[in-house]
Amino acid sequence: MKKPGEVFANASVYDPGIEAIVPRYDELHDALLNAPPQDRDESIRVLELGAGTGELTTKLLTRFPDSSVLAVDHSDQMLDEAERKLETFGDRATLERGAFPDDYPSASGEYDLVVSSLAVHHLDETRKQTLFDAIYESLVPGGWFLNGDVIRFDAPHLETLSGEMIENWVRSKGWREDDFMEEWEASDDYDDPSSLTDQLVWLRDSGFEAVTSIWQYYNFAVYGGKKSE
Ligand SMILES: C[S@@+](CC[C@H](N)C(=O)[O-])C[C@H]1O[C@@H](n2cnc3c(N)ncnc32)[C@H](O)[C@@H]1O
Repeated sequence: MKKPGEVFANASVYDPGIEAIVPRYDELHDALLNAPPQDRDESIRVLELGAGTGELTTKLLTRFPDSSVLAVDHSDQMLDEAERKLETFGDRATLERGAFPDDYPSASGEYDLVVSSLAVHHLDETRKQTLFDAIYESLVPGGWFLNGDVIRFDAPHLETLSGEMIENWVRSKGWREDDFMEEWEASDDYDDPSSLTDQLVWLRDSGFEAVTSIWQYYNFAVYGGKKSE
């Protein structure tokens, strides 16, 4: 049985598969990479939650050549893919198996940056808020949390619109969505996205400042905030 967020039965098809089913996947990652205040040459410690096959991890380690990333995921098969991909970065990349918010983040005042992509929306509302509290605690003063994720619209017609947009995207990749899902054994039975507004409020409640959304394309958004100095 698949774990939340694995998406495909076989993790080796994740990289080509996710680009075919998540519109503007690279652009979402770009927004996550462009948003941190740190300069490229700074030596920063990053915690990545739900690293999957290490796509964003690779981009982070490349964008910040003096950084180190602790990449966490609860899926053995995703971590196996990530391990192969991240080998070239040596000890700058550390992979750990664990689940958030139960196991991570556990540190206090340790990370300059906490990032996540397409993973937090698997948690229910309460666990998202627990996670935001823990992330706040784990950051250094002035550190940032940035999340690129699926969001829910409170307006049903906008949910329909987002669904149609995804169907069109999959079609633009040469597939009918049903055929794609069947052929790639894709599904996500654990989705529980929250609205962007709720999450921005919860971030504020956790103590974050400068809480904001940076990028949005229909029901995908990049948002976050800063721990007070
Ligand atoms: C859709 S993938 C995204 C992977 C990667 N961040 C990306 O941008 O392609 C979601 C990942 O989050 C992991 N995940 C989901 N919920 C998790 C949790 N509560 N704890 C740890 N990992 C989780 C899944 O195993 C999966 O690898």
